[in-house]
Amino acid sequence: MNIEPSLKMSLFTEAIFGKLKAFAAQQQRKGMEIIDLSLGSPDIPPAPMLLEHMAQLVAKPQSYRYTLTGVQAFNEAVCRYYERVNGVTLDAQTEVVQTMGSQEGLVHLPIAFCNPGDIVLTTNPAYVAYDAGIHLAGATPYYMPLTKDNGYLPDLASIPNDIADKAKLLILNLPGNPVPAMPSEQYFEQVVAFAKKHNIIVLHDAAYSEFYFTGNAAGSFLATPGAKEVGLEINSLSKSFSLAGARIAYIVGNANMIGIVKQLKSNLDFGIFEPIQLTAALALDHAEEITASLRTTFAERHRVLMTGLQQIGWEVAPSNGGMFVWAKHPYKMTSEEFAFKAIEETGVVMVPGTVFGNAGEGYMRLALVQDVELLAQAVEKLRAI
Ligand SMILES: Cc1ncc(COP(=O)(O)O)c(C=O)c1O
Repeated sequence: MNIEPSLKMSLFTEAIFGKLKAFAAQQQRKGMEIIDLSLGSPDIPPAPMLLEHMAQLVAKPQSYRYTLTGVQAFNEAVCRYYERVNGVTLDAQTEVVQTMGSQEGLVHLPIAFCNPGDIVLTTNPAYVAYDAGIHLAGATPYYMPLTKDNGYLPDLASIPNDIADKAKLLILNLPGNPVPAMPSEQYFEQVVAFAKKHNIIVLHDAAYSEFYFTGNAAGSFLATPGAKEVGLEINSLSKSFSLAGARIAYIVGNANMIGIVKQLKSNLDFGIFEPIQLTAALALDHAEEITASLRTTFAERHRVLMTGLQQIGWEVAPSNGGMFVWAKHPYKMTSEEFAFKAIEETGVVMVPGTVFGNAGEGYMRLALVQDVELLAQAVEKLRAI
């Protein structure tokens, strides 16, 4: 049988992560000690209270029904969390929709709002799911470069007027992956004004909202006056609550937009496993204590890796939050070549910046997913190249 992928599949190439992992495994078999800073998968276990709660719930026979649009207890916990942490009031019925991780929400959301050929404003570099969603919807990305000169924030003023007028959706991610820039209140105000002027839906990916290290949270986009008129925020329990494998996230914001996403979702899946939703609700209700200890751990990792790389001559993008360090390596080779050289000579696994767009050339993304001793060792190994 002749099996041909669809034409659209040419837009979905296989990620380099697999190749990096295979090469690292090969080096490990040769005796190299591997320090893996590639995937942003949290290494800290979920809080014991969450593990216990989940264990009790999975033992209940009534936990195994379809949950369809989800249990209300989860939506209500999201609203309490947004009110306490961000000062944003949400309606649990109309302004919250659950997604099976934010990846699922991000990849499907453009289908809900974009027609083929519509423009979506996104960044270069950007988290890879945005492009996947844009391509699935048949929309066209317009890339806003994230550069040192613009403080690694998308420069809305430099978008040509005709592009802005045609754009349907603007995707932001602050603090971001791979570039951990933080937004200011003024920046979000500019976003709201820009979206209103050009009639653009804003989707802010707040996956790293709990990762801030100087006492100042990035804050919710929805806390900006007028933000609920123009947009949505997607947030996840994967990173902030170490529940990445549980696959639970949510989109909040404009009720009309949420209604459209709900309509799409009712055709895609039948809801998240109830014990996961109820455990996530417990996590949100204890967010302050859970995320405070996460921040203490990550702030120290961030400090050790950032200052270490600076000391060995890497140019590190300034940041006070996020789960990654975005840094320019000092060698005359591409990011991809350097990623393989680093594994071969040091065992340190990093992601080449070009995975996230061509503006990432010269940069490496290092995830803060090892303890400080290993991060310090990684710096020493990189120093020796
Ligand atoms: C910026 C950003 N958004 C979304 C996701 C997806 O996370 P999840 O699907 O686990 O919620 C990730 C994962 O790394 C991410 O970095």
